Amino acid sequence: MIAWKVAKHDPASCQAFVDSPAFRALKTTTIGPIRMDVMVESIEIGWRFPSESSGGLRRNGRGQDRAKKLLLNNSRFSRYRRIRASLGQVLKEEGDHNFRYLLTADELAQLLGADASEVRGSFDARHLIPLGGHKKGVGPAAVRQYLSRLGFPYTFKVIAHINMRGGIGKTTSTITAATRACQYGFKACIIDLDPQGSSSLALDMLPGEEDPIFYDVWQNPGEMTMGSIRKIQEHLYILPSSLENALLDASLINPSSQKRAVHGVCDVLKTHGFDAVFIDCPPSLGIAVISTICAADIIVIPVHSDAFSFKGLELTLKEIDSICETFGLQRPLIRILYTKFDRREKIAAEGLRRLTSEYGAYFIPKVIRTSTDFSQGLARKKTIFASFKKSQAKEDYDYYVRHILGLEWFADGR
Ligand SMILES: Nc1ncnc2c1ncn2[C@@H]1O[C@H](COP(=O)(O)OP(=O)(O)O)[C@@H](O)[C@H]1O
Ligand SMILES: [Mg+2]
Repeated sequence: MIAWKVAKHDPASCQAFVDSPAFRALKTTTIGPIRMDVMVESIEIGWRFPSESSGGLRRNGRGQDRAKKLLLNNSRFSRYRRIRASLGQVLKEEGDHNFRYLLTADELAQLLGADASEVRGSFDARHLIPLGGHKKGVGPAAVRQYLSRLGFPYTFKVIAHINMRGGIGKTTSTITAATRACQYGFKACIIDLDPQGSSSLALDMLPGEEDPIFYDVWQNPGEMTMGSIRKIQEHLYILPSSLENALLDASLINPSSQKRAVHGVCDVLKTHGFDAVFIDCPPSLGIAVISTICAADIIVIPVHSDAFSFKGLELTLKEIDSICETFGLQRPLIRILYTKFDRREKIAAEGLRRLTSEYGAYFIPKVIRTSTDFSQGLARKKTIFASFKKSQAKEDYDYYVRHILGLEWFADGR
């Protein structure tokens, strides 16, 4: 008998369990009575395992069938969250003025190259939210209506941040871009695919016991409702992540599931009225990342000046090509974003030269400079766009967001 105790919410111990032979035995072959026994009697998971059904599993066949179904659905640990995914109630948007991320009327005027008082004057007073001083904020829905009337097309986009190198700004870029997109009126959803849940943590949205994660919804995305994802504010949602997303590599075995998994969830989000989906990927080229490549309209590869991130860039580009070839897909738009740029470093200027000469076609011409604003934002569980003060960090990411969302349309004279 193999006994495992997994401490509640202890990532190291959960990972040890996932890496263990007992777990491999469970997830590999057909489920026979021995495997059932292993599952029911020998493995005690202090979290999310439907333990009250265990007695039933051993006592009668019906219970066993149910357990078998659970196992075959790869949803051993997440039954409750799956139920919530399908029964989640629809959240109401109207009357919700609990904003963390608002565009100021001045910023909107700056986007349009228009006079600030004219822009403020074109809004009904009830749409202008006082922000202290003379500043007024405009809610995302009102911004969307305003820009749509000017002819801006809010076409649906899936934007993924991928690089197998860690620590180079995938998570920062995902959450910063999503919050800015929301301010520009996009109804945005973040899909956190990193089992470490960095995006979820950074936005104070780690999943609770009952909150579904991607692992719970990919098989039946049609069952997702607005209640299956967590609301941060009007026009800003997240499908958070937890350690169980590490099981995706084991459950997305067949190629057609890989092709469809992320795509299916994004399609459903589109039917719920979302304009932009931002995906934060783990630092690997695992199955979840392959599935993301199949779904993305735009792949952003953040890079830093060190050799590892250049290696990561090369491998990611190769992987994108090979996946598109294998699945017969059109290549998504690829963009390279230079992050954490520190002009005092000699290596930074060399990196910039290399990126412009070797990857000029993909390279976003404005870099993201290094700034302490990001770590301060992390400590407050907000992105830099929650602040109304001008900053270099906001300026850099604002350019990036306008670039990937096509908001340069306004500067280009429409
Ligand atoms: N432009 C930047 N300037 C300074 N620190 C940054 C910048 N971008 C990201 N960071 C910090 O670098 C660390 C790693 O970034 P993160 O976005 O988590 O990378 P990844 O998701 O690729 O692992 C975080 O602590 C983040 O706050
Ligand atoms: Mg990350």
